[in-house]
Amino acid sequence: MNSRRNFLKQMSGAAIAAGAAPSLLTWALPAPQNGSIAVPGEDGMIVRSFRFVDLETPVEYFNTWLTPVPHFFVRNHMHEPSQLNAEDWRLTIGGEVEKTFSLTLSDLSKLEMHSVVNTLECAGNGRSLHRPQVPGIQWGKGAVSTARFSGPRLRDVLQRAGVKPAGKHVMFRGLDEVPGKVPPFIRSIPIEKALDSDTLIAMHMNGAPLTKHHGFPARALVPGWIGAASCKWLTEIKILDSEFVGNFMSPGYRFPDQPGKPGEAVKPEDTHPLTALNVKSVISGPLDGASLKAGRIAVQGAAWAGEADIAKVEVSIDGGASWNPTRLGRDQAHYAWRLWNYEWKAKTGDYTVLSRATDTQGRTQPSAPVWNPSGYLYNAVDQVKIHVA
Ligand code: MTE
Repeated sequence: MNSRRNFLKQMSGAAIAAGAAPSLLTWALPAPQNGSIAVPGEDGMIVRSFRFVDLETPVEYFNTWLTPVPHFFVRNHMHEPSQLNAEDWRLTIGGEVEKTFSLTLSDLSKLEMHSVVNTLECAGNGRSLHRPQVPGIQWGKGAVSTARFSGPRLRDVLQRAGVKPAGKHVMFRGLDEVPGKVPPFIRSIPIEKALDSDTLIAMHMNGAPLTKHHGFPARALVPGWIGAASCKWLTEIKILDSEFVGNFMSPGYRFPDQPGKPGEAVKPEDTHPLTALNVKSVISGPLDGASLKAGRIAVQGAAWAGEADIAKVEVSIDGGASWNPTRLGRDQAHYAWRLWNYEWKAKTGDYTVLSRATDTQGRTQPSAPVWNPSGYLYNAVDQVKIHVA
């Protein structure tokens, strides 16, 4: 848990690091130079979109339980706020409440802080692997990362406002800069999840104030759920009597009620909003296409399961005919991925190495994903092809 004094110290540190007066942070991305794309502090990340800054984490970075912030994937639907005056920033709480009020950054940092280690995954992670292919950002396997998020519980703020019995959903609005006619990124979550003691108004990531890419000064953190639930650059929380109606609730971020045939259209009335993540594992090493020497080879990766915990991860080196148990890493927390590894005494040959996770709800990664028109929640058994010489 972070004390308030620590928070304020780190806040001013972040402002200085940003090279700005503490009260006014101005953010601008440099234009691409000589055809290359420069995103400061994000070395090694895979740029999926420069216009709105969408950065994927290479799978070989899945080797630490907590992802260093510069290696944490970034997903933006629109422009990040170009300016944010921390002194003028306000978070308003209204709608179906007894008392509407707003909080300054200093008010927020005086509230009791709580920490949650959460694996945040974009619902579209793995979209490029669906067949037939679907439109949208063509994420590979790395729109997922893990961090310790800290901040006041959303519940504490809602209790202060006094949610009326009519209040059933909690809407978040961020400070994104909306280009042209694009609908704003506004979504809602059910009141039960909002009142969960692990749902936060996060101000810190891995012990430091949020960076601009991850929602400075405050974001929602809805653990175990698709990343889209965790609204960045939070400025308004509104209690509604029903689910928010808008593009990012429908048609966006919905999943077919029943799996259909790959490539087949799905009627909107046969879909539901996405909430918790699937069970999933990814191999972080060896990398796909690697050529390795015979002998001991460490097969390793990460596995996560949204609101459930990982029960086991298995590896197959014979294309799925037989499965071997892996060793799960020591670090663990509810909502956080587990690192895993398997020591394989490899003989020469060409191999397809597979990984398969099972969670505490009894869900196991399927051999084929559930195809859907937006390419959400890809979670098929992972595989890499390698050559052992
Ligand atoms: N919040 C706002 N305001 N605007 C956005 O575009 N993207 C969402 C979510 N919160 C988004 C947002 C999506 S789709 C994801 S996956 C996560 O932020 C990604 O969080 P990150 O960029 O910190 O990794």
